[in-house]
Amino acid sequence: MNPTTPTPADDASQLAAFEARIAAGESIEPKDWMPERYRKQLTRMMSQHAHSEIVGMLPEGNWITRAPSLRRKLSLLAKVQDEAGHGLYIYCGTETLGVDRTELVDQLLDGRAKYSSIFNYPTLTWADIGVIGWLVDGAAIVNQTVLAKASYGPYARAMIRICKEENFHKRQGYEICTVLANGTPAQREMLQDAVNRFWWPSLMMFGPSDTNSPNSAELLKWRVKRKTNDELRQRFVNLTVPQAVALRITLPDPDLRLNSATGDWEFGEIDWSEFHAVVRGEGPCNRERLEARRTAHEDGAWVRAAATAYAAKQQGNGATVAA
Ligand SMILES: [Fe+2]
Ligand SMILES: [Fe+2]
Repeated sequence: MNPTTPTPADDASQLAAFEARIAAGESIEPKDWMPERYRKQLTRMMSQHAHSEIVGMLPEGNWITRAPSLRRKLSLLAKVQDEAGHGLYIYCGTETLGVDRTELVDQLLDGRAKYSSIFNYPTLTWADIGVIGWLVDGAAIVNQTVLAKASYGPYARAMIRICKEENFHKRQGYEICTVLANGTPAQREMLQDAVNRFWWPSLMMFGPSDTNSPNSAELLKWRVKRKTNDELRQRFVNLTVPQAVALRITLPDPDLRLNSATGDWEFGEIDWSEFHAVVRGEGPCNRERLEARRTAHEDGAWVRAAATAYAAKQQGNGATVAA
């Protein structure tokens, strides 16, 4: 037998040792042994996350040229640039799992890979930029704060850094909402309309309900996820309702009420048919988003070629020096 082929007994003992490390709260690092399934699940989850950061630049990038003041333009530009950084940072994380980034980008561009459903909704008014910062980045923080304790070291560390920037995004979004909430009746109406459109899609960002989430059990078992989709969604609602009250904005859910026994804000039924349609590619902007990414990729071909040529030249120089 090939000495590098693990026997089933080896696998079982390696798996037991791996699970003991997870149970002890240890961090798994790239060179550590890990079950192939753990590697696969992480690659799927991290690449979806990276794609979401990159596609997430599009709805807001749409407003950079139309931001209402230089200050707003600067902060929006910085935010969109941060999202690019988040994407690149997480792609680097997936590469520690032995995946080639080119392969992941190809999966996004040919429609095989998924990204967060929220970015398939259009940004129709300036208020959408405030509401995205408040709700969408707010939801991302709830999700990512828990991922900062994920068992895979490179992913957890990426989340710690990213969450700091997401907090800034949320604050700038909420500040935009505050200004509109205290503005003219037309501005308040514009804010309310944006909240009406983004509230439910924001709740969908946490993914399917626990009873219908095929990957959750495994991810929880290996502590990639530390809380279920429904637990995170409830936490987001509990955090967000008081903020809506402070803005004197109505959340579009007649069933929203505080359960004084549990302290939870209970909410109405999510339209899962809408969620699944958007995930299938039938959302309002799926086609537009992928087209924009494909065009950007094609337009950037010369940059990749130049970077490759430069790296080859540098290597050539290095060889000469070494010789
Ligand atoms: Fe981000
Ligand atoms: Fe963000």
